Amino acid sequence: MRILGIESSCDETAAAVVEDGVSILSSVVASQLATHARYGGVVPELASREHLRAIVPVVRAALEEAKSTYPDLAAIAATIGPGLVGSLLVGLTFAKSLSFARGIPLIGVNHIEGHIHAAILNARVEFPAVALIVSGGHTHLFEVTEGFRYKLIGKTRDDAAGEAFDKVAKLLGFGYPGGPVIDELAPHGNPRAVKFTLAKMKGNALDFSFSGLKTAVLRWTEARELDDEIRARKELLAENPKPSAEEWLAVTPPATLDLLASFQRTVIEELLRRAVSAAEEMDARALIVSGGVACNSGLRAATEELHLPFPVYFPSKALSTDNAAMIAAAAFPKLERGEFTDLNAAASANLTLAEYN
Ligand code: KG4
Ligand code: ZN
Repeated sequence: MRILGIESSCDETAAAVVEDGVSILSSVVASQLATHARYGGVVPELASREHLRAIVPVVRAALEEAKSTYPDLAAIAATIGPGLVGSLLVGLTFAKSLSFARGIPLIGVNHIEGHIHAAILNARVEFPAVALIVSGGHTHLFEVTEGFRYKLIGKTRDDAAGEAFDKVAKLLGFGYPGGPVIDELAPHGNPRAVKFTLAKMKGNALDFSFSGLKTAVLRWTEARELDDEIRARKELLAENPKPSAEEWLAVTPPATLDLLASFQRTVIEELLRRAVSAAEEMDARALIVSGGVACNSGLRAATEELHLPFPVYFPSKALSTDNAAMIAAAAFPKLERGEFTDLNAAASANLTLAEYN
């Protein structure tokens, strides 16, 4: 049973065909990075416009690559939220039109549930599991039980983990998005050089907070004379939108590399100590880590070094960031259960996957 997935919640227009929830026949992602990079973040109006431009060719390419035509499809799945409403509307409306015109059922998928499925697409996960979803827009901990039932057990009270990477990178002149650059440069610094205090949460100890860390990085930079190196990095970016590690290293002194390494180590510690304590509390049989920040090599290595007594599932790097294969995969159990979405369903910018009990 083939599902066409469509994802347009933020700044990637993506389409994919997935068979039986496990085999990716195609996964096409049109990134808008080049459009947004010079603004240092996603500009919602530009994102909608780019989605409009890309949606038809991206869906066509996904079908062609999968050697599929509309009659081969058991369902069309599209992200229904959360995300930028103008962006969501492009993918969802396109999916609805296809569904109506071709008589193929529609399945609306929560973007966060998509991220969870990206990690376990072809794994036999045992439940209960803890899912840590870390991206530019989200930092959530869920308990996942049989049949993909979710319970929220922790979330960020301010910035998302990816947002912290992006803000720190922007502050230091590394451009957008910040995660990949910091990930690449962190191994060149000393992760114990700068001591940041870990966030202590009143109330739910499994909630996250990254604003204090972000402010601590800001104070660190204010206490130093960094204008010249920041200018050099901005000049480098203006010449070359994707500098190599060597090029970055040439304009980044050791003290700044130490800061990057220490910042990344602190984010990783904040994420893992809560994920692990949640897993211990519920006697979890698995840990699922997904979302753009799951690409982070330091996070992957630190998780491995913990030698946890249960398997840890990370998606491949390509499936960690936004894509449509995860949307099609998340729709498969819904197709099996006959859970379809009405053509009147509205896109929802603040859609939640689950709430605290
Ligand atoms: O899941 P995603 O593509 O989009 C959202 O749903 O937000 O995640 C993008 C986020 C950005 O904040 C980006 O800086 C971060 O993921 N990211 C990383 C890495 N690659 C992407 N963060 C840390 N290390 C990385 N290697
Ligand atoms: Zn995402």
